[in-house]
This record gives sequence, structure tokens and C-alpha cells, in this order.
Amino acid sequence: MADAPAPACRIDGKAFAEGLRGRVAAAAARLRSDHGVQPGLAVVIVGEDPASQIYVRNKGEQTAAAGMRSDTHRLAETTSQAELLDLIGRLNADPGIHGILVQMPLPGHIDSAAVLDAIDPAKDVDGFHVLNVGRLAVGLPALTPCTPQGAILLLRHTLGDLSGLEALVVGRSNIVGKPMAQLLLAENCTVTIAHSRSRDLPTICRRADILVAAVGKPEMIRGDWIKPGATVIDVGINRVPSADPVKAAAGGTRVVGDVAFAETAAVAGAITPVPGGVGPMTIACLLANTYLAACRAAGVEPDVLG
Ligand code: GUN
Repeated sequence: MADAPAPACRIDGKAFAEGLRGRVAAAAARLRSDHGVQPGLAVVIVGEDPASQIYVRNKGEQTAAAGMRSDTHRLAETTSQAELLDLIGRLNADPGIHGILVQMPLPGHIDSAAVLDAIDPAKDVDGFHVLNVGRLAVGLPALTPCTPQGAILLLRHTLGDLSGLEALVVGRSNIVGKPMAQLLLAENCTVTIAHSRSRDLPTICRRADILVAAVGKPEMIRGDWIKPGATVIDVGINRVPSADPVKAAAGGTRVVGDVAFAETAAVAGAITPVPGGVGPMTIACLLANTYLAACRAAGVEPDVLG
């Protein structure tokens, strides 16, 4: 009988993110002591979405913990587009603010594209402004979206050089899927993007040395879709009923990714868990982008953090 494959290495994003946050904090402290510049991040949230409230609170706390200025602007659900654009104009003009993040999604009466377009591209630490999207696409230095950037750091840490590997991104969102594909291309991967209209997704998945799942569907990617030894990056964060029927009946929930973890871990070479994989990298990369934006504004060569 053939040996069962060795279980996958679990990629510890929590530990890696902690290390990155420490390097950012040290670099920010040097920027302050040597050049008198304290990086500043403004986070704007409109409305009461509970998940967004938690993300925004974590961003504020971790920014302050890294020794940076942290301003959080909490606006009512009824805030008009003109009021939001007015705030962004003031933040663009504030020399103590180097990064601006407007938490998505915005309420339906606000045009998100117009809001993103109003952010100074030099302060666009989300990397969502079309100028940064375009700069990434043509290989110019850009502020790049935090979650895909975090995934690339974990892949480099796990695999080293990614050149020539077959990479599949499942999902084509502007926040994750598309920038993830661009960043993998910049790493010299052979890149495929699959999405809800792709035909025979299991067969496409089986070709991938690197599989990045960013679809927002709980445990959609199955273990028998995985090439043995592949590296699997699960970007999904999905809240589902607790596995314990008693707890589920009482409304208990748990968080799972887009990948069926246990069956995939039995086949893959390495895999990010949910929670504790890519998630913690997002804020660490946001802090790194804020530090980078502050260095560029001050005309200072940034420390290498990656
Ligand atoms: N909502 C979910 N993820 C993100 C993110 O990375 N940035 C912003 N601005 N909003 C989000």
C-alpha cells in the first residue's frame, strides 16, 4: 500500500504578522527619531456594520501600538457623499496624515468609486486608487492592496523564489483577486484567474502549484481538487453555524475559509489556516504601507521590511 502523504505544513500568518508589525514599529521609530516624522493613518468608517466596526477598531489599535498616529473617523450611516468627500479633502491636505483608508463596503447611497478616486494616490494605503492599480499593472512602484501583499509575503516565506510556478487565483474581486494575480505575475508565476463562470474548476485547481482562494464561499475548494504538495492560501473569512449542533441551535458560530481545511491539508504541501493565516497579514501590511507612504512624503529611503 502506498504511504499516505505527509500532512501539510501550516503557514503561521499570526506569527509572521507579529514579526512584520515589530519591524514596522522599529522602522517607524527610526523615522521619527532621525527625521522627526511620525507616520499617521486615518481610517474612515461610515455606518454601523458590525464586522467593519471590529476591523476598524483593530486597525486603530494596531496602528497606535506600532507608534504611529492613529485617527479614526466614525461617520453616521446617513452621511452624504459630499460630507465624506469633504473629509477626504481635509485628510489629503493634512501633512500629519500619510495614509487614508475608507472602510468598505460603503452605504448604498455613496458612490465608492468616486470616494476612492478622491483619495490622494500617495496616501492610498489600500492601493485601491486607479493610479495605484495601473502602476501595479505596468510594473511601476505602487502602494499595493494589503491582503494580496500579505499573501505574497507568506508565499515567499514558504517557497522562496516563486518563478515559473503555476499559480491559480480563484476569485476576481478588485480588493483581492485581481491585485493578487498582478502580484503573482510580478513574481514570475504563470497565472490563471478562475471565477464563478469558469468551467470545470476542479480540473483547473489540480494544475496549480499555488492556489489562492478568494471567493467568499465557505469550504468550497475540496481536498480532491488539490495537486499533491501544492501551497494553498485561503483568503476566505466566512461565518457559519457552529459544528456542535447544541451550540449551533443556540446561535453559536465559527469562522471557516474558502477551503475545506482538513481534507486539503492531507494533500497540500503547505496551507494557511483560517483564522490565523492571511487575515493577520492584512493589518501588518497596512502599517507597512503607511510607513512607506510617510517615507516617500519625507523623501527618506525606507527600511526593507519584507
Ligand atoms: N473591507 C474589507 N477589506 C477591506 C480592505 O482591505 N480595505 C478597505 N478599505 N475595506 C475593506
